[in-house]
Amino acid sequence: SGHDWWHIVRVRNLARFINEMEQLADPFIVEITALLHDTADSKFAADSEKGYLLISEFMDKNGLSTIRDQVLNVIKNISFSSKSTRVLDDPLFYVVQDADRLDAIGAIGVARAFNYGGFRNNKIFDPEVISQIGSVIGTSSTISHFYEKLLLLKYRMNTLTGKQLAAERHEFLEVFLKEFYKEWEFNNKSL
Ligand code: ADP
Ligand code: NI
Repeated sequence: SGHDWWHIVRVRNLARFINEMEQLADPFIVEITALLHDTADSKFAADSEKGYLLISEFMDKNGLSTIRDQVLNVIKNISFSSKSTRVLDDPLFYVVQDADRLDAIGAIGVARAFNYGGFRNNKIFDPEVISQIGSVIGTSSTISHFYEKLLLLKYRMNTLTGKQLAAERHEFLEVFLKEFYKEWEFNNKSL
């Protein structure tokens, strides 16, 4: 459900807003790319190549052949770059990737992370792996995912508008973690 239709709607709205602010790409192409960006995600489509083919056919059938390759290239790199640092030099990519990343942070990001963790049957938090520097990495708990990915996203935004939106959402992640640890370590002194 973290990748459902409503994720697509939120990414479309974010992408549209970022592009209105930055005027980086054609608004129609931004919207089409946002709408299709998770269609061939390898976590959900058994075969990504088949997914790309479906997108390709869909675009051809709907008179979008001229923008097909650009859109496909962006979609391929969006899922690819979540696992690596490869970045595509296309303003369309900057906008849609920022939008996708923004939906992984803030309150929605917290909800999605715990939803995914539940789907994987991961622990919420594993207190045994708190290191001296206070970070929680190297486990499959959902709190550890904050340190492995979510708290890094604000530093990886492409556009100024994306950075501004990410700053607020990042702050919420920090407030959430602070409260989480406070409640986790509850004792009489907390009152
Ligand atoms: P992307 O948006 O780049 O496709 P992913 O597909 O990796 O990102 O993740 C989709 C959602 O699932 C995000 O909200 C992400 O934070 C969450 N997620 C991914 N891996 C984990 C994990 N190990 N624990 C908790 N949440 C996760
Ligand atoms: Ni997405």
